[in-house]
Amino acid sequence: MISMEDLRQGVGKSLPEINEIENEDLRIQVVEAWAFALSQTEFTRIEQIRGSGGPNTPSLKDGTQAEHLRGVARIAHGIADGLEKVHGDIGLDRDLLWACALCHDVGKPFEFSPRNQERWQNDIGASGYPAIRHSVYGVHVALTVGLPEAVAHAAGAHSAEGELIKRSLENTLVHDADRAYWQAMERADQLEEDVG
Ligand SMILES: [Fe+2]
Ligand SMILES: [Fe+2]
Repeated sequence: MISMEDLRQGVGKSLPEINEIENEDLRIQVVEAWAFALSQTEFTRIEQIRGSGGPNTPSLKDGTQAEHLRGVARIAHGIADGLEKVHGDIGLDRDLLWACALCHDVGKPFEFSPRNQERWQNDIGASGYPAIRHSVYGVHVALTVGLPEAVAHAAGAHSAEGELIKRSLENTLVHDADRAYWQAMERADQLEEDVG
């Protein structure tokens, strides 16, 4: 079985943008969140998770969850760049924005795990399908490793779950970057036709 230390090293290689986070504690917690999330599944690297929004939605022709996370993190910072160029400081926390974007899908190893998928599909009446979506499971991961509540909020409310509440400023950028990522990649013919 792969060690936590090997998982952490893999996360660092998969997500080089983690190095953009200036606060050392936050940087370590982001690595820990992904290493812990992977450790609960059969995945050992983020690149092993298919590059799609859900386990049954079209995946990237050329790319995995790692590229998705990196793309969303850079798009979110691109939006921040644009806003700040025109309006100056509007109160965005760049470190937090990196952490929120890089962790928004930290629950995906659990939701995409073939083991869990098979278990849930075998008895949907007993488990529900999926039993726990990646957004909800991502909150569990974030809080378990001690990430700030604001990062758990982004994991939990970047997607449809966030329609029930008001998103934070950083999570608003992550949500829009995530949506822009999938819509742009679809329009650029970068998604597979079949849903696998
Ligand atoms: Fe998501
Ligand atoms: Fe996403």
